Amino acid sequence: MAANPELLKYLQTRRSVPLAFLEEPGPTKEELNTLLEIGLRVPDHAKLNPWRLVIIEGEARRAAGERLAEIVRGRNPELSEEKLEVERNWFLPAPLTIGVISSPVSHPKVVEIEQILSAGAVALNLVHGANALGYAAHWVTRWFAYDAEAAAMLGAREGEQFVAFVHVGTPQTRLEDKPKPDMDKLVSYWNG
Ligand SMILES: Cc1cc2nc3c(=O)[nH]c(=O)nc-3n(C[C@H](O)[C@H](O)[C@H](O)COP(=O)(O)O)c2cc1C
Repeated sequence: MAANPELLKYLQTRRSVPLAFLEEPGPTKEELNTLLEIGLRVPDHAKLNPWRLVIIEGEARRAAGERLAEIVRGRNPELSEEKLEVERNWFLPAPLTIGVISSPVSHPKVVEIEQILSAGAVALNLVHGANALGYAAHWVTRWFAYDAEAAAMLGAREGEQFVAFVHVGTPQTRLEDKPKPDMDKLVSYWNG
């Protein structure tokens, strides 16, 4: 691959745009297909495809939020309307959300962590892909990624785990650059 200063600059400055600041328009059908292709083009030891994607868009956003609110209300009938509204409206700001599910299989050489990491790579590729298409993205999990009932409602099957909900849309705002991690602390050279 030839050196690509524009890509380099993007990778050096990438930022998420929080879900609350995403809005219409989202990717077209064709752009979504491109995005999904990019998302699934990740390192994947032994080509196990140990991931699945669930798309939440259009009217399904409201329905998914309603179901989350029902789950929390069922567990805590005293919960305030305000807190229920947070769940109901969760998927509304972004026109598109892609749930990334880690779906590991039993394999003699490829241990589970490698398969989970590959699903994480899918999530990050979706973020980069969305940005490359001119949209902004936010990788979020929240409680329902880890709650068996809610995760199943959103599409996770037995033995699977959501590792990301990648929210995609047009940014209402651009964020300032963020502090850089301290390389001296985080990077060392092995010298025996
Ligand atoms: C596995 C994972 C789960 C995350 N879950 C959340 C979340 O639930 N809520 C949130 O605000 N940020 C979450 N983040 C962080 C955001 O994706 C993002 O990195 C953060 O808002 C900082 O923005 P930046 O990407 O511009 O550095 C998560 C990141 C990862 C890797």
